[in-house]
Amino acid sequence: MTYYEQVQEAAEYLEWRLGGGAPRVGIVLGSGLGAAADAVAGAAVMPYGEIPHFPHSTVEGHSGRMVAGELGGAPVIVLQGRAHAYEGYSPREVTFPMRVLGALGIRAVVLTNAAGGIAQGLHVGQIVLLADHINMMGWNPLTGPNEPRFAARPGAGLRFFDMTEAYSKALRELAQEAAREEGFTGDEGQAGELGLALKEGVYLATPGPSFETPAEIRAFRALGATLVGMSTVPETIVARHMGIEVLGISCVTNLAAGLGSTPLSHVEVEETGRMVEARLAGLLKRLAPRIAAKVEQEP
Ligand code: HPA
Repeated sequence: MTYYEQVQEAAEYLEWRLGGGAPRVGIVLGSGLGAAADAVAGAAVMPYGEIPHFPHSTVEGHSGRMVAGELGGAPVIVLQGRAHAYEGYSPREVTFPMRVLGALGIRAVVLTNAAGGIAQGLHVGQIVLLADHINMMGWNPLTGPNEPRFAARPGAGLRFFDMTEAYSKALRELAQEAAREEGFTGDEGQAGELGLALKEGVYLATPGPSFETPAEIRAFRALGATLVGMSTVPETIVARHMGIEVLGISCVTNLAAGLGSTPLSHVEVEETGRMVEARLAGLLKRLAPRIAAKVEQEP
């Protein structure tokens, strides 16, 4: 069975479980950020182990289940937990769930993650929107023959495609609106300067699993990175290949190596995740209906 056929099989299984009417908005919840899944009403819950060919995460803090239902009144599919390359998954396995979301008819996806803060002025617990990324993973999930049948929209599925707006400006604007309504101002960042409720920045992805060295963080800062993490970029690339719009949201769980006073640990990442996940869930609940309304207007 080819990779493409595996994706189709997983999507057909999910269509059967969902009984038709697949949502147009997907949400991927990162390390320790699963709370939004609990806010999904009328949820159908499918552990990854039940979905054909689906990779399941081995990291603590990642539940590994798909939750479909309504968030803030809008139909969504939430992936609680993701597979990472550092667990030993291949690039195609890491991005398998995103391919399945594409096959299900998702038009927009919100990718959330835990990240280390590199830019000055960021604080632990801060929620930051991704304006762009730098791929330092050393690989690209699209290496190999192109598969145009993965296109989720006309004109997508190309061998070479544009990444100038990998993270949708329109979706970021909706997120800023939702954040303002949630009362996220001031301490989240640039409110004074730019009138934004949430700071926006550049996410740099490393393969992990070791955290970075202080020298690497200094180098990444010089390269223009605001945040550093070990996920999201492969999913963004694959989503853009399919023509799916991406909104990226990082939760700063720690200051990057060499910038804080304590050594980095996964425990800290998880603990901060637990502090932020309720606020993130509140934001996603306001945002989901806005994104759903936007994509439903499109042809
Ligand atoms: N580095 C890489 N990934 C991370 C970090 C970090 O400091 N924090 C959370 N995920």
